Amino acid sequence: MLWNRNRLQHLAKASLGGRKLIVVSCRSPYSFEKRDGHLVPTTPAGGLTAALKPVMEVTGGVWIAQSSDQHPSPRIDLSGFSLRTLLIPNELSKGHYEGLSNRALWPLCHNAYYRPEFRPSDWEAYRRVNEIFAEAVLQEAGGEPATVFVQDYHFALLPRLLKAANPALTVGQFWHIPFPHPEIAQLFPWLPELLDGMLGNDLLGFHVPSHSRNFQESVQHSLAAYVEQAHDTIWYRSSPTQLRAVPVSIDFQQHSQLAASTQTERYMREWAARLGPASFIGLGIDRLDYTKGIPDRIRALSALFEANPALRGKLTFVQVGVPSRTALVPYAELGRETDAEVQAINHKWGTDRWTPVLFEKRSLGPCEMMALHRLSRFCMVTPLHDGMNLVAKEFVASRADLDGVLILSRFAGAAQELGAALLVNPFNPSELSSAILTALAMERPERRARMAAARAVVRENNVFRWAGALLQELAAIASLPASGAYQGYPMTLSAGVA
Ligand code: G6P
Repeated sequence: MLWNRNRLQHLAKASLGGRKLIVVSCRSPYSFEKRDGHLVPTTPAGGLTAALKPVMEVTGGVWIAQSSDQHPSPRIDLSGFSLRTLLIPNELSKGHYEGLSNRALWPLCHNAYYRPEFRPSDWEAYRRVNEIFAEAVLQEAGGEPATVFVQDYHFALLPRLLKAANPALTVGQFWHIPFPHPEIAQLFPWLPELLDGMLGNDLLGFHVPSHSRNFQESVQHSLAAYVEQAHDTIWYRSSPTQLRAVPVSIDFQQHSQLAASTQTERYMREWAARLGPASFIGLGIDRLDYTKGIPDRIRALSALFEANPALRGKLTFVQVGVPSRTALVPYAELGRETDAEVQAINHKWGTDRWTPVLFEKRSLGPCEMMALHRLSRFCMVTPLHDGMNLVAKEFVASRADLDGVLILSRFAGAAQELGAALLVNPFNPSELSSAILTALAMERPERRARMAAARAVVRENNVFRWAGALLQELAAIASLPASGAYQGYPMTLSAGVA
């Protein structure tokens, strides 16, 4: 039976058994902009909030997030759940969000070729912000045995703080980005403390088994913990943390409906008029992040036009780049590099009537994105490294016509489910160019078969399945005596240097 809103709703009701659900993320599902004197909610870019919002609408509960500019009030009731936002002082946020989260953990976990920056003052701010969120969660729980579901790398220390203060809480966390190989992880100066924080969780989720394995191995190298491999469980400080690999996803059904809406079709007409008579449209949609492989993609296109003169004037590539983390140097550099690559390709191959690459440096609403999905012959999702990448799943969900070719990086978590895509090594320019050629030459029956296979996977592995699997695990843990606390290790310690 397919997972859907109803099934998750039943499960949540039965499994939470009256316990409050508290979700924590750094990014709020809405930011607010003042337009014509009114506060207008806007949806931020990024897979995390896109995945969690439909889940929270169904399960209900409280979502605690950092306040964004102009947030109207610290608590607002939204459809199905309430949002509580915390205003973090600027200096602390700089250390926690820009510093430790995005200058240290983000590049470290993505094997990026930017040197991660490890500043003790950022670590202090990270700790402090984790404490501030812990206080808010504990207040929400009010001493009751609530279920807490923590999101991502901004809160590695939070689970331990919560369990120490209220052992009756059931705490789970989902790590939305890759967890690096232990040789890379050990560069992190405060690794034992980070891992200790994460092992405060009863349940720790990753997208794919390799991230979970990397985590296990890092724990074995750094802590006196017992890893019970057969059950994917780590025992530390007398309590277990269960590890699970469950791929995050999208609300396939709702996405498909919106992709077929008249609003999407209006955008399709607007874009078709703008793109003119090019025979093929290619598409990239990314946050402007150096992990996404955007300049590599544009260089591959230029090489393609060089080697295939017949394609000039016939293929237009639309690259949507949503500005992200603009205060950080590598992101500003990426913006400049992308602008330069786009200018170079357009200057080299463009004509009065044809611009090879249209670079849309802005955030697009869902219907406009779906319009582009539907107009494109191929979509390139070619990150250098990515936890999951929901753009790949969104493209597939938009293509009810069973057309369009997905070119997907082997190093995105999504590649483990979407083997029906053309899988590429994004570091290899000739693989990128030849995948584009293959997509352009692919006959309709093959496009149809591949898209049908990909859609079947995303339809089944949708976001309600992701949330359902994790909630079920959390419910099972909550039903254990003493909230899963174990009276002793099952065996002697096998590893650890503490
Ligand atoms: C990734 C992270 C999320 C984050 C999103 C957008 O998907 O896993 O935690 O929210 O990027 O990044 P931002 O820094 O703007 O929140």
